[in-house]
Amino acid sequence: MASHQLLLFQLLLLLSSASHARDTISPGQPLRGNDTLVSPGAGSYVLGFFTPPGSNNTYVGLWYAKVPVRTVVWVANRADPVPGPVERNARATLSVSADCTLSVADANSTVVWSAPPAPGAGAGRCTARLLDSGNLVVSDASGHVAWQGFDHPTDTLIPGMRVGMDFGTGANMTLTAWTSPSDPSPGPVVAVMDTTGDPEVFIWNGAEKVWRSGPWDGLQFTGVPDTATYMGFNFSFVNSAKEVSYSFQVANSSIVSRLTLNSTGAAGGLLQRWTWVWAAGAWNMYWYAPKDQCDAVNQCGPNGVCDPNSLPVCECLRGFAPRSPEAWALRDNRGGCARATPLDCGNGTDGFALMAHAKVPDTTAAVVDYRAGLAECAQRCQRNCSCTAYANANLSGAPGHRGCVMWGGALEDLRVFPNFGQDLYVRLAAADLDAAPSKSEKKAHVIIAVAVSICALAAIIALVGFFWWRRKRTRARQSGAPSKWSGVLHSRTLTSEGTSHGADLDLPIYDLETIAEATQGFSADNKLGEGGYGPVYKVLKFQKQFISSFEASGNRHFRSCKEV
Ligand SMILES: *[C@@H]1O[C@H](CO)[C@@H](O)[C@H](O)[C@H]1NC(C)=O
Ligand SMILES: *[C@@H]1O[C@H](CO)[C@@H](O)[C@H](O)[C@H]1NC(C)=O
Ligand SMILES: *[C@@H]1O[C@H](CO)[C@@H](O)[C@H](O)[C@H]1NC(C)=O
Ligand SMILES: *[C@@H]1O[C@H](CO)[C@@H](O)[C@H](O)[C@H]1NC(C)=O
Ligand SMILES: *[C@@H]1O[C@H](CO)[C@@H](O)[C@H](O)[C@H]1NC(C)=O
Ligand SMILES: *[C@@H]1O[C@H](CO)[C@@H](O)[C@H](O)[C@H]1NC(C)=O
Ligand SMILES: *[C@@H]1O[C@H](CO)[C@@H](O)[C@H](O)[C@H]1NC(C)=O
Ligand SMILES: *[C@@H]1O[C@H](CO)[C@@H](O)[C@H](O)[C@H]1NC(C)=O
Ligand SMILES: *[C@@H]1O[C@H](CO)[C@@H](O)[C@H](O)[C@H]1NC(C)=O
Ligand SMILES: *[C@@H]1O[C@H](CO)[C@@H](O)[C@H](O)[C@H]1NC(C)=O
Repeated sequence: MASHQLLLFQLLLLLSSASHARDTISPGQPLRGNDTLVSPGAGSYVLGFFTPPGSNNTYVGLWYAKVPVRTVVWVANRADPVPGPVERNARATLSVSADCTLSVADANSTVVWSAPPAPGAGAGRCTARLLDSGNLVVSDASGHVAWQGFDHPTDTLIPGMRVGMDFGTGANMTLTAWTSPSDPSPGPVVAVMDTTGDPEVFIWNGAEKVWRSGPWDGLQFTGVPDTATYMGFNFSFVNSAKEVSYSFQVANSSIVSRLTLNSTGAAGGLLQRWTWVWAAGAWNMYWYAPKDQCDAVNQCGPNGVCDPNSLPVCECLRGFAPRSPEAWALRDNRGGCARATPLDCGNGTDGFALMAHAKVPDTTAAVVDYRAGLAECAQRCQRNCSCTAYANANLSGAPGHRGCVMWGGALEDLRVFPNFGQDLYVRLAAADLDAAPSKSEKKAHVIIAVAVSICALAAIIALVGFFWWRRKRTRARQSGAPSKWSGVLHSRTLTSEGTSHGADLDLPIYDLETIAEATQGFSADNKLGEGGYGPVYKVLKFQKQFISSFEASGNRHFRSCKEV
């Protein structure tokens, strides 16, 4: 029964799009309340009049042509509806005037909503066209864009739409949640690109910050580190004098995905990515934020660190102690943490402690330089007595050119992730650098110690195995018996003997320069301890930690042992 209805619906859809699919309106040829525009090309989107369930008003909106569940992704007159439901508004109109003004009018031609053209546009015959991307574009005879829907997102980001600021047109593209599912008018929940410092997206619920994306690290927002696991998406972040914006694309048009802002959720603001699953005939939630306690803005106060896998979730940065131990004991973390030992910048004895897997602190007041490298960043921060921390700004850049972001004053809204996140270097007085590492750092050390043990064990087994095999092979040769292992294994042995000795662990080999950079010149800060293989350093490479071990004696090959 339901499938029959679906079939009928799709057939009707097909017929209706075949009979009068148009994508353009022009002066004197408005879109009527009982008609629709269909995007050309793949015909993915429909623009028309609709009434949300539970409402008595009519709006002009955009929805998917091929998704059988009507999902409105954009509304033109969200705050200015045509009174009455859509069935009684067949004579309402969406029209474009000769001077490029787009307007919605009721049956009596009373204009309820209008969009004036950009200054300078409006020369000659104007048209409004629904593009394949879903963008409704008003342009004049010379092709100047007078107005476009993508400059005014509603609560949903579809592929190609931007969130951010276009300084050329002055468009401030934000997402604003519907007031309720029956009322598309703008509610108090807004997602905005903050363009100061290193740009970040914030969700606001009225005057309260609900969530922070963290700055774009070249690959993803540092507060959304699982983006790296997405398949079939392209993300774009532009940060130039002309615009600061975020947008996404899908690799295959059969992937239907949207990012929505909803005013429900524990924090009163919820960003969700939905993907249409054709086989199931339903929307599937792909991602959402805020997710956990540590996604709440500034959960642990200034210089506090939020770790969702720790109990209690708040702790102070290494070298810091609760400003008010009494309040902190009652888990009132608003006061945050204060430095245990004052800095000694003038004498140059301060150093930096590495905090791995961080969602870097609030960057609205940070200083960013995308051309610098980490070493230069460290020098600049060391020299500037008001610099309290630094990190890379662009992880997609070449080594030595991954940018520099520097913080001054207290570090706000800092959290750690179990596996993802960025390396943050926090300025500490010399006395605190030698202090016991914090709980999360300790945890990392335990993992590293376990990894080192596993590595050592694997290396020993491989070594023993190799020597056993070589002895056996030598014996086999001596006895004249044909070797059981030939071909691939044999040649691999030769090459491995040519370049190295001992166990062939199939591991990437790093040259001295890379390892020197990664360990910051074998800095004592990065030294974890000594093992049977020599000193063990914690190193930085992309967002992963590697253990590098090298043999102090004999040959000079450096190899990583195991990724953690
Ligand atoms: C819409 O209604 C008008 C009359 O009000 C009618 O002439 C027109 O054919 C209708 N269009 C569609 C697509 O139903
Ligand atoms: C819509 O209008 C009908 C009839 O005028 C009325 O009974 C109903 O309560 C209205 N619904 C809403 C949500 O205003
Ligand atoms: C249109 O005008 C008529 C006559 O003035 C009025 O009765 C009717 O309610 C109006 N319709 C709308 C949708 O405003
Ligand atoms: C964009 O609009 C939001 C509010 O909607 C505002 O807070 C923000 O400052 C604006 N951005 C710019 C660059 O004007
Ligand atoms: C917001 O989320 C709630 C709960 O998931 C849902 O019922 C509602 O339809 C959503 N609002 C909009 C405007 O989609
Ligand atoms: C995604 O990005 C890659 C590399 O920039 C590009 O080659 C590809 O065409 C992009 N795909 C889409 C769907 O934009
Ligand atoms: C897009 O995805 C569909 C279904 O998964 C597949 O049949 C098609 O070949 C894909 N197209 C491209 C260009 O990858
Ligand atoms: C440098 O160190 C000395 C001795 O520890 C101390 O007295 C002095 O205040 C320091 N100077 C600065 C500028 O911190
Ligand atoms: C980050 O690095 C990549 C690769 O070098 C570059 O294309 C991109 O423009 C850089 N981003 C910024 C904001 O400089
Ligand atoms: C020193 O660092 C602070 C905070 O990062 C910054 O505001 C200031 O411009 C820096 N001063 C110099 C000379 O770089």
